[in-house]
Amino acid sequence: MIFRGYDNLMVAARQGSPLAIGYGDGEMYVGSDAIALAPFTDRISYLEDGDWAVITREGIAVRDRAGAAVERPIARSLAAGLVVDKGNYRHFMAKEIHEQPEVVGHTLAHYLDLANYRVDLPALPFDFASVTRLSLSACGTAFYACLVAKYWFERWAKLPVDIDIASEFRYRETTMAPGGAALFVSQSGETADTLASLRYCREQHQHVLSIVNVQESSIARESDGVLPTLGGPEIGVASTKAFTCQLTVLACLAIAAGKARGVIGPELEAELVKALVEVPRHMATMLRDETPYETLAHSLSKARDVLYLGRGSSYPIALEGALKLKEISYIHAEGYAAGELKHGPIALIDEEVPVIVIAPRDDLFDKTVSNMQEVAARDGKIILVSDADPASTGCEVQTMLPVPTVHPFVTPLVYAVPVQLIAYHTAVFMGTDVDQPRNLAKSVTVE
Ligand code: M6R
Repeated sequence: MIFRGYDNLMVAARQGSPLAIGYGDGEMYVGSDAIALAPFTDRISYLEDGDWAVITREGIAVRDRAGAAVERPIARSLAAGLVVDKGNYRHFMAKEIHEQPEVVGHTLAHYLDLANYRVDLPALPFDFASVTRLSLSACGTAFYACLVAKYWFERWAKLPVDIDIASEFRYRETTMAPGGAALFVSQSGETADTLASLRYCREQHQHVLSIVNVQESSIARESDGVLPTLGGPEIGVASTKAFTCQLTVLACLAIAAGKARGVIGPELEAELVKALVEVPRHMATMLRDETPYETLAHSLSKARDVLYLGRGSSYPIALEGALKLKEISYIHAEGYAAGELKHGPIALIDEEVPVIVIAPRDDLFDKTVSNMQEVAARDGKIILVSDADPASTGCEVQTMLPVPTVHPFVTPLVYAVPVQLIAYHTAVFMGTDVDQPRNLAKSVTVE
């Protein structure tokens, strides 16, 4: 609040959404987070829920909900040195898609011992060798990163995973054995439902680990351990590089879990780490020529509904592809596990419906192809995202989006890029506001 006639007074209060105070030289700032204040100062403190502050150029007096004077620590923000502009790109989203080889590489370098092809994680708040279940919770794209991780933890660490959307988890009143392990994933670290789920887990005496992109965020501050993604600020509302960086950290964590649980030996560890190290190069290859995506955008923009299909760890990528397309192009899109096709969605298929099939040549490829054939038999327009030869599918493929052949472990990381490009180019062709799609906020800090 500012007051007419008082040019040296601001009053700020926090409830729910984060509120950051910036300390300048003879000036003070109030903002939503450290990134918003980065152009002005790197000295930041955060109000707690219920706090209110009286701010003048000379300083600040903070009181808590009960009216007692309190001090909130001032920290040097890491955000101040970050450049937040579009560079030579038309949209932040395009820039962020293209940054992925670099930021995924940085994140890998942070969590891997590259000289010896080993994972090298900081101390965790729980021991993977002794946990019996891992509970994962997040929203939106971060939830899909968790869904990929479920496949990884179960396949490569033999660790059962409970996973839920945070807005459901927080009200489920699930019983959790004390001492269990809970993991939360969030780009902003401020998503209200994810934060509430974290607090629920604390009440249930869980060990809380989080993966966040904003290291000073509420989720980071309330966790027992934090694994940062090194994606840099993500400005586009549609999450892209944050997703692949989350996957990168989760992949390293799954390998660490597999080692701790005796499932992954040194040879397999080196194999999986090598596969991860190759990811930035494969991403860069795919980003070299976006012409097929620009061409596809013409036909996709006319669709009323689009289906995405995938199996195994490609199923969450199908969900993520559909989310990306609907949020920035406003075309109705649904992601399905390919095996679910016969259980309902096949009724939607006709010559008007594009079906985007995410089908790496892994051990589930033949199963996915058989679902593709069901689509083809009903004249659905198939867009195949794969490293396979389209002729080998026995289907008429309308558009082929080739992907390099990679180790099956890392396919979600690599196949994330084409689904982002499909959405991006379709939205650009349709002329929507790509970085600020209607009705959406970058960070959902209220229920
Ligand atoms: O900041 P978070 O990762 O917690 O945000 C979660 C979702 O709100 C976010 O991923 C949202 O779904 C994006 N707009 C997806 O592109």
